[in-house]
Amino acid sequence: MIKFENITKIYSPEAIALKDVSFEIEKKEFISIVGKSGAGKTTLLKLFLASEKPTQGRILFNNQDICDITPEDICQHRKKIGAVFQDYKLLDSKTAYENVVYIMEVLGKSDEEILRDVPKVLDIVGLTERSHHYPNELSAGERQRTAIARALIHRPEVILADEPTGNLDPYNASDIIHLLLKINEMGTTIILATHNKEIVNSLGKRVVTLDQGKLVRDEKKGRFIL
Ligand SMILES: Nc1ncnc2c1ncn2[C@@H]1O[C@H](COP(=O)(O)OP(=O)(O)OP(=O)(O)O)[C@@H](O)[C@H]1O
Ligand SMILES: [Mg+2]
Repeated sequence: MIKFENITKIYSPEAIALKDVSFEIEKKEFISIVGKSGAGKTTLLKLFLASEKPTQGRILFNNQDICDITPEDICQHRKKIGAVFQDYKLLDSKTAYENVVYIMEVLGKSDEEILRDVPKVLDIVGLTERSHHYPNELSAGERQRTAIARALIHRPEVILADEPTGNLDPYNASDIIHLLLKINEMGTTIILATHNKEIVNSLGKRVVTLDQGKLVRDEKKGRFIL
């Protein structure tokens, strides 16, 4: 489904973020990308989102090369992806419910679709009862659930989660990972970039390890080893 072919990303001569990285991700896979700070995890996700271009190599998504994608097609491409970040990136002036509605409005969805889909997605992430609160009235875990609801609302094929548990205590971190597992079981491909050893080791899912931009390990039921 996703194929990274000989990807090199050089930001500058001092910042070579990825070096000849090749691997494939199957549909419905749950894959963790691990590695020390600066290993190239976020860069890999940015290349897949087409917010950066590789210096060399190509990335195929459903057999389409996304590296020479036109600006018009970028929007279409990103509709297939839901992204979740460490710092949530919520709109503070909107409630959890409104944060999700906002995305539907941007996508031009009808009121009918909004009324039908938003409560469903808030239920999936377990936020129904807290959905009329603003981000500053929500716990860190609830904020991240809101961000995941927002990422899910357009039914993406792939969820990218870049250190989604970075600001969470172990309880909330584990909850968020369970939520990602549930979403994966519902059929969505998950790409999780993280430093969190305990989480990756507990998953028993595929782990790709980057070290200074190189892919140094790719294990089916991997453990985090650095
Ligand atoms: N826009 C940029 N311009 C120049 N160098 C960059 C840029 N973005 C990242 N880098 C460099 O590329 C390398 C990889 O960065 P990247 O953010 O992909 O690492 P990471 O594995 O996500 O790290 P972290 O775990 O800290 O999030 C680092 O050396 C970083 O300094
Ligand atoms: Mg990063």
